[in-house]
Amino acid sequence: MGLEVLIPEEKIAARVKELGKQISRDYQGKTIHLVCVLKGAYTFLADLARAIEIPVTLDFLAVSSYNKGTSTSGAVQLTKDLDTSLEGADVLIVEDIADTGLTLRYLYNMLKARHPSSLKVIALLSKPSRRTVDVPVDYVGFEIADRFVVGYGLDVDQKYRNLPYIAAVD
Ligand code: IMP
Ligand code: MG
Repeated sequence: MGLEVLIPEEKIAARVKELGKQISRDYQGKTIHLVCVLKGAYTFLADLARAIEIPVTLDFLAVSSYNKGTSTSGAVQLTKDLDTSLEGADVLIVEDIADTGLTLRYLYNMLKARHPSSLKVIALLSKPSRRTVDVPVDYVGFEIADRFVVGYGLDVDQKYRNLPYIAAVD
């Protein structure tokens, strides 16, 4: 499997810092409750949380989209739920990538029903040309072309999550 560096470590770090500053301004005076979508968003969550300069709480959930390799089947299933209630919280869903949008739409609707005070979405990456459902993504790190990417938390068959950069697979 060939890997081509698409977004180097330094570029990710600079963008995450920028996002942290923007979010800190947008949520001034509030506490943000970050909801990390496991497993892919774990690296992004760790860096983003440290780039945010206002109070933060965090929780984790996991979904499986029955995908093996590089294609998604479309059926999303919650495999690990949050530990705490979202009632009255300013919730920001932290996702690795918005591809078709199915996962984010599923999560958005599920979490909206739990009565947070506000609900927004951040995705490190977005592939706009792949979107099949409409879902609001409030913050995007990088828009990328329709290529399968790994690293910085993202995997192919559970591998390459530990790469410090984002690489395209061919
Ligand atoms: P969606 O539901 O089609 O938007 O896909 C979302 C999920 O598919 C993400 O959370 C990723 O886990 C996975 N995914 C989509 N594109 C890629 C990719 O290029 N590399 C690795 N995982 C991906
Ligand atoms: Mg995945």
